[in-house]
Order: sequence, then structure tokens, then C-alpha cells
Amino acid sequence: MITLTFIEPDGTAKPVSVAPGLTLMEAAMRNNIRGVVAECGGQCSCATCHMQIDAAYFDRVGAPVDDEEDMLDFAEERGETSRLGCQVEIEDSFDGMVIRIPSVQG
Ligand code: FES
Repeated sequence: MITLTFIEPDGTAKPVSVAPGLTLMEAAMRNNIRGVVAECGGQCSCATCHMQIDAAYFDRVGAPVDDEEDMLDFAEERGETSRLGCQVEIEDSFDGMVIRIPSVQG
């Protein structure tokens, strides 16, 4: 299992154990992380699963591809390490990563 820590919009840190292969959005939803809406269910068409990735891990996660980049243009609080959680599949190398959930989605 891989340990990730989600930082909810109010600053609460929630460590979770997840299996590789899930997306960050799925991991957040299964663990009732506040602030993740995932309105489109992972189809890369809503931007309500926006997350900011720990800068120390961003090279492991990688940059968004074109479709995701277009959707991120609609995301509030977009930052240098923003990704849509539904487009990031969890890998073993993510163990220990911190992910911040923005205070506004969409
Ligand atoms: S769940 Fe809609 S873009 Fe990720």
C-alpha cells in the first residue's frame, strides 16, 4: 500500500493508504476527502477534481496532457503543480506524497 496525505480545504491533513492503479480522484473519493467533487466521474470534462501536487513529487506525476491542460484553464487556484486527480494514476513512487485540495472547485 501507498501512503498519501491529502490536505483538505480547511487545512486538515488526512493520511490515507491506497493501492497503486487507482487515480488520485478515486483515492480521495473512497476516503471521503472534502473538497473533491468529481462531477464528471473521471472523464476529464469538469475540472472539479483539481489538486495541487507536492512540488517534491511533481516530476514523478508529470505534467498534464493537452485535454487536461484545457480543462485546468477552468480551475480556480491553479498553480504550478496543478493536476486533475482523475488523470493521475497512483504509482508506488508516490508513497509519502502530499496533495492539497483547493478551497474552490470548478
Ligand atoms: S472528475 Fe471531472 S475532470 Fe476529473
